[in-house]
Amino acid sequence: IHEPQSQDSLLSLSVDSEGLQKQIDELSTLSETPAPSVTRILYSEKDVLARRFIKNLMGLSGLSVREDAVGNIFGRWDGDEPELAPVSTGSHIDAIPYSGKYDGVIGVLGAIEAINVLKRSGFKPKRSLEVIMFTSEEPTRFGISCLGSRLLAGSKELAELLKKTVDSQNISFFDAARFAGYANHLQDLTSVFLEKGSYSAFIELHIEQGPILEEEATSIGVVTAIAAPASIKVDFEGSGGHAGAVLMPMRNDAGLAAAELALAVEKFVLESGSIDTVGTVGILELHPGAINSIPSKSHLEIDTRDIDEKRRNVVIEKIHQSALSISENRGVKLSEFKIVNQDPPALSDDLITMAMESACQELNLTFRKMISRAYHDSLFMARISPMGMIFIPCYKGYSHKPEEFAAIEDIANGVRVLALTLAKLSLA
Ligand code: GLV
Ligand code: MN
Ligand code: MN
Ligand code: MN
Repeated sequence: IHEPQSQDSLLSLSVDSEGLQKQIDELSTLSETPAPSVTRILYSEKDVLARRFIKNLMGLSGLSVREDAVGNIFGRWDGDEPELAPVSTGSHIDAIPYSGKYDGVIGVLGAIEAINVLKRSGFKPKRSLEVIMFTSEEPTRFGISCLGSRLLAGSKELAELLKKTVDSQNISFFDAARFAGYANHLQDLTSVFLEKGSYSAFIELHIEQGPILEEEATSIGVVTAIAAPASIKVDFEGSGGHAGAVLMPMRNDAGLAAAELALAVEKFVLESGSIDTVGTVGILELHPGAINSIPSKSHLEIDTRDIDEKRRNVVIEKIHQSALSISENRGVKLSEFKIVNQDPPALSDDLITMAMESACQELNLTFRKMISRAYHDSLFMARISPMGMIFIPCYKGYSHKPEEFAAIEDIANGVRVLALTLAKLSLA
């Protein structure tokens, strides 16, 4: 029989803040760009070193480590009833070009520290506890966001797509994965899929990436929902030519088609009338990219999100219609209009948010409910497990840039809430 145990010892236990800060700093040096920026691209040399760093920490915490075919890393602490579905927590450590050192990272290092906190307190889990480091939450290398968690959640579409996916250097997904020691002799990624019910709960600790908690001086954000993200790739092709010799009426300028579409994205997003609708053209490339050559090709990548899926889909439809009419009016070919992903939003599980709220109360930390405008691996874990997210404040809400910062006191608060919530759910 399982002895109910007191969680009182957890309330006093403090996080090893100094050690955690050191780990965050050390991980940030595994970067392809100079400090304070961090760039860590999937399956790169730095990514491989960072993975080694994480696996080593998991080992030091006494977790048994497993990796799947795409390099999702799992560290398990067996509970007294290991046949029950475990409680899991985690995030990512890949970093988009010239970003900061906290996005994702505190949800991985913080999760390992939460395990350490529980171990030091003498806690004995009933359900096993598992820390997950997801492969490629960021879409940088292969254009696919939440690659690892999307596969874990059983995306057959993605398993197929990856067979023919290459990066900008034409390196195939499988060659890149093999470089990092994964996907050996394997074309079938269905081995990565996890069944629904594999976990009794999944929790992700993350910086808010927005300004609310800091502005309100609130310690913890309890996430109730994650906004619905979508991304689109567009290519236009015109006839190019000499920037001096081809007169204006004779041109089919693929660059101007792209410029017009970029402005149209902004217009459609604003037309939604809701502050929750956002759209960004983060990639805009012109070919051949010479000052005295009319662009013959252009490439855009468009990110649009909303907490209201239908409203976001209206924006996508308008972008599509606009791309078609721009192509017709300018005499350029719309050679590609590809919706890369069009994901629904995800809702947190009530029992998990309640456990997080009581953890905050017991730890005497202020908290508020909020939505996540950024996407996270939690969006996909929600497909196979009840899900919840813990947000902590970050400086001015900065993220995806080198100025991203979270104070170690705030990170430590997040780790304590995570630890206590894991403990509660492990005994549930
Ligand atoms: C992930 O980093 C996102 O863009 O929300
Ligand atoms: Mn990010
Ligand atoms: Mn993140
Ligand atoms: Mn994210």
